[in-house]
Amino acid sequence: MFTDGNNNLEDTAFLWNCFRESNITLSRDHFASLWVTDSVRATTRQHCDDTLPSEPFVHCLRHRLFLDLLSGFSTQHPQGVFVNLGAGFTNYPYLLPTPIATCEVDQRFMGEYKQKKLQELEDSGALPKRDITFIASDLAVPQAIQKLTAQLDQWIAGRPSFILMEGLLYYLPQPAVNTLFKGLGEIQKKGDTLAAMSFRPEESRKAAYRDLAIYFQRQFNNPNFQPTALPRSFYENLPHYQLTAHYNYFELAKHYTPDHDLGRSESVLEEDSYILLHK
Ligand SMILES: C[S@@+](CC[C@H](N)C(=O)[O-])C[C@H]1O[C@@H](n2cnc3c(N)ncnc32)[C@H](O)[C@@H]1O
Repeated sequence: MFTDGNNNLEDTAFLWNCFRESNITLSRDHFASLWVTDSVRATTRQHCDDTLPSEPFVHCLRHRLFLDLLSGFSTQHPQGVFVNLGAGFTNYPYLLPTPIATCEVDQRFMGEYKQKKLQELEDSGALPKRDITFIASDLAVPQAIQKLTAQLDQWIAGRPSFILMEGLLYYLPQPAVNTLFKGLGEIQKKGDTLAAMSFRPEESRKAAYRDLAIYFQRQFNNPNFQPTALPRSFYENLPHYQLTAHYNYFELAKHYTPDHDLGRSESVLEEDSYILLHK
């Protein structure tokens, strides 16, 4: 629906840039528009009107949170590294005040398309040059995750790390999620940051959550697909990490846009943000 001629590409990755360009003052994603065409814009507008009009705004909020955290990390650790799992078409490496080495992990066709497009954008001067390593991995498969964590361990090479999983975990089956957190816990070291987003199981009561499940069931041709949701206790009980912050969209709105009323809980599909420090 949102592929705009780029068959096989993850639809939502284009959509998310469209969300972030809807309020650049908030999202601070000055490069979001590079990924968005007029037809994607029109489809996105229609999609939001039909489903949840709050979606563009909450995506700007979460992007701002992670950009602020990453900016602080990169300034404090100029020799540190950023790992973005399920990176999609995010632009974080280009938005940081202190550019740091970045590794982006996604499905092969996503990474290949992004790498080519970034090269064109860098060559034309639309984007500055950045040091990004791309790794293809299927994060739904525990064996692939084990291989990936070994690769990341080598790439990180003991440097301070910030690992992000934004809009990814609901795609992955629970055994893969467990393998992922265990593997990351084994390669990060004391003081490193892990930032993740996920739905709380209570969200499944909302109509918008059921719509999302149906959307994915169609997209994956799997009538049994259910987005994976995680309770806060999942993060509290991770052996290698301490949960240092947990934000929902209402808290983020209060912080970043105190004058903006997000409305009732029912009108927002809440994917919460969790910030963890390695113990
Ligand atoms: C909703 S998009 C979010 C993209 C980006 N993190 C953002 O917030 O804009 C989900 C991303 O996860 C990736 N993804 C989904 N399932 C995956 C899998 N099994 N292995 C690797 N990446 C996956 C998709 O290709 C896509 O880039």
